[in-house]
Amino acid sequence: MAMTVVTGSASGIGAATFSALAASGREVVGVDLRDAEILADLSTPEGRQAAVDTVLARSSGVLDGLVLCAGLGPQVSDAKRIVAVNYFGTVSLLDGLLPALRGGEAPAAVAVSSVSSTQITWADNPIAGLDESEVEAALEVGGDYRGQLAYAASKNALTVAVRQRAGDWGAAGVRLNTVAPGAVDTPLLQAGLDDPRYGEAIRSFVGPLGRRGRPEEIASLICYLLGPAAGFVHGAQFVIDGGVDAQFRPTAF
Ligand code: NAI
Repeated sequence: MAMTVVTGSASGIGAATFSALAASGREVVGVDLRDAEILADLSTPEGRQAAVDTVLARSSGVLDGLVLCAGLGPQVSDAKRIVAVNYFGTVSLLDGLLPALRGGEAPAAVAVSSVSSTQITWADNPIAGLDESEVEAALEVGGDYRGQLAYAASKNALTVAVRQRAGDWGAAGVRLNTVAPGAVDTPLLQAGLDDPRYGEAIRSFVGPLGRRGRPEEIASLICYLLGPAAGFVHGAQFVIDGGVDAQFRPTAF
């Protein structure tokens, strides 16, 4: 079996996914800023290219799986960096590693989006179709809440990017899906809870199941989507939020 790559493997959902995939017998390689087999900064074009080049060298150009978890939360003060990691960083690795996935055995990829991807529409997404150099100015409309706007916009753009690739990736024999978690107990969520602008809203973001998710619960959905049991699942977004989306938007899906 060839290699499976997990970005954001040092923490939270990525760390739980790394462990679950390794426990299932896969050879897993992590990409992160720290505590990973491959150290790379996905916020810059150079860092993304270095990550792709290192993965290709280490895997001899063949991958069975790719999971893109690296991301920043809305509380990060540099809103442009949120979009750089969550959107441009993720899409660059998808595109850069598709050739390696084509050569894999029953290859599949999963990108971690968010229920926030549904908070704005593509038509209202201020970064839709923009070049990375244009993002900072486009986010100014968010004012003091530009971090939240950057987060929702980056996740909306990521889900759209995955859906737009369904045709080409399907023809290439590589399945590609997104998961869209609600609130999951990780360091990213804790940083949001600790932020006076966002803490209260996150605390109230609890649905019918009455609790937040655990990273292992998101990892188990990702493992399913990577594996043979999901052989006909492609181009889809899976909401995993304890029922919040259904409760607040029962007619929108
Ligand atoms: P986390 O903060 O525990 O882990 C994120 C990882 O991404 C960290 O290891 C971090 O070092 C890495 N990362 C950040 N910037 C990077 C960069 N420039 N280059 C390389 N790696 C970088 O966060 P969590 O919660 O596990 O988040 C994983 C994904 O799940 C993110 O994309 C996040 O947006 C998404 N998500 C999380 C939710 C939550 O409630 N925790 C809800 C919905 C989506």
